[in-house]
Amino acid sequence: MTEYTHIFKGTAFTSKSATEVQILKDYLFFINADGMIDKTIAPEHTDYQQLLTTYQHQNNFHQLSEGQYFLPGFVDLHVHAPQWAQSGTALDIPLYDWLNTYTFPIESKFSDLAFAQEVYEDLVGTLLANGTTTSLYFATVHKEASVLLANICAEKGQRGLVGKVVMDDPEQNPDFYRDANTQTALADTEEFILAVKELAKTTKQGVYPVVTPRFIPSCTDNALKGLGELAAKYDTHIQSHCSESDWEHGYVKERFNKNDAVALHDFGLLGKKSVMAHCNFLSDDDARLFAETGTAIGHCPISNAYFANSVIPIARFHAMGVDIGLGSDVSGGFSPSLFDNARQAVMSSRMLEDGVDTAIAADQRGVPNSRITINEAFYLATAGGGESLSLPIGRLQEHYTWDVQIIDTKIPSAKLPIFDQNEDLRDIFQKMMYLVRPENIREVWVQGNKVHTRV
Ligand code: GUN
Ligand code: FE
Repeated sequence: MTEYTHIFKGTAFTSKSATEVQILKDYLFFINADGMIDKTIAPEHTDYQQLLTTYQHQNNFHQLSEGQYFLPGFVDLHVHAPQWAQSGTALDIPLYDWLNTYTFPIESKFSDLAFAQEVYEDLVGTLLANGTTTSLYFATVHKEASVLLANICAEKGQRGLVGKVVMDDPEQNPDFYRDANTQTALADTEEFILAVKELAKTTKQGVYPVVTPRFIPSCTDNALKGLGELAAKYDTHIQSHCSESDWEHGYVKERFNKNDAVALHDFGLLGKKSVMAHCNFLSDDDARLFAETGTAIGHCPISNAYFANSVIPIARFHAMGVDIGLGSDVSGGFSPSLFDNARQAVMSSRMLEDGVDTAIAADQRGVPNSRITINEAFYLATAGGGESLSLPIGRLQEHYTWDVQIIDTKIPSAKLPIFDQNEDLRDIFQKMMYLVRPENIREVWVQGNKVHTRV
C-alpha cells in the first residue's frame, strides 16, 4: 500500500481547458512522499466513504473548513527579483529611460550580498504569501547574488527558476552595470548553471538555472550565440524580453532587419523551455514560430500598461496555439500578486476589444474578439504557466505537484461578499479571483510541504 504523507479533503478549482474551470467538490487528495498528487477521489467514488473512515482521524488528514477552498499555486513567469526594491516607484518615464535612470542603478547594488539577501528574502516570502508557488526570475549580472537567490528559493520552499542576467555590450550598457566582457558573461553563466544544478540535487521542489540574455539590445551577437549553445549543452530553460515596446522592437529590426522572434530563433534561444516576456509586437509569423518551437509568452499585463505602448492580443495568440502564462514583471509591474495581474489581463483585453478613443466610431474603435474571461486569466496564472515551463505544475490533478493556496472567504478582516448559503461555486470562484487579498490566503503548499501560514 502507498504511504501518503498528507491527505486533504475540500473543494478545489482547476483548469479543465483554457476557458473552462473544473470544480472538484469535496474531493480527497492523496499526496505522496515526492509531494505529488498520487490520486484524487470524488465523493461519488465507491471507495470514498471507506477511505474517509480510514484516514480522517490521522494527524496527516487536513479538512478544509466551510468557506475555504483550494486553488492551484500560481506560476509567475516573469519577475525581476532585484527590482522589488523599487516596486511602486519610478513608473513615470518610457522603457529606455526607465532602465537607465532607475533600474540599472538599483540592480547594480546587488554586488552587495547583504543587500541582495535582504531584498531577495523579503521578495520570495512576499510572493509565497501572495500564492505564487513557482517563479521564473531574472536576478542581476552578478553571479554570486544570483546563486544566492536560488538558495533563498530552496530554503523558503518556493520552486525557483533563476537566471543570471547577461548584458555584455559596452555600447548599450553603462560601465557601472554590465558584464566585464563577452567571455566572462559566458563563463559566469556556465558556472552559475553548474552551481544551481548542484543545489537542485538537494531541493525537493526544484530549482532550475535559466539562460538569461536580458534582451537583444543589451547583448552582443557573440553573447547571444554563446548563450544559445550553453542552453543546448545543459538543456536549461531560457528567458528574455521579446518585442516589448515600439523602441525595443524597432531597435532589433534596425540591427538585424528581423523581428526579435526570428533573431532569437537564429541564436538558438527559442524552444520548449523558452519563455519570452511581453511579446506585444509579435507578427503572426512570429507567433507561428513560437507555436512551432514550443516557445511561451510571459504575459505581463500591468507592466504592459506602462511600458509596452500597446495591448497584446492574447486571445489571438492563444488561438494560434502559443503557450501563454502570466508574469508580474516586478517592478515594471508594481504588484507582486498574480491575482492583480489576472484582473488586469481581463481588463486590458476588454479595452483592446472595445478600443479607447471615443473620437473613433464604435465599430472601428477596437479589435474584435480580443477579450479574455477571468477563467482564462486563471488558466494563464496556473496551468498555462506550467505548460509554458514544461513542468507538471499548475493543476490539481493526479501526477501534478501539490502546490496549492488555501483561500478563506470568511475571515473577518477580508470577508468576501458571499451571502447565499448555496451560492453557485462558479460565482464563488469568480469572487475569489476578483476580490482575494493576501489576508485570504491562509496557507500555501509547494511540492507537499507547507511553506506559508498567514498569522
Ligand atoms: N527590457 C529589458 N530589461 C527590462 C526590464 O527590466 N523590464 C522590462 N519591463 N523590460 C525590459
Ligand atoms: Fe521584464
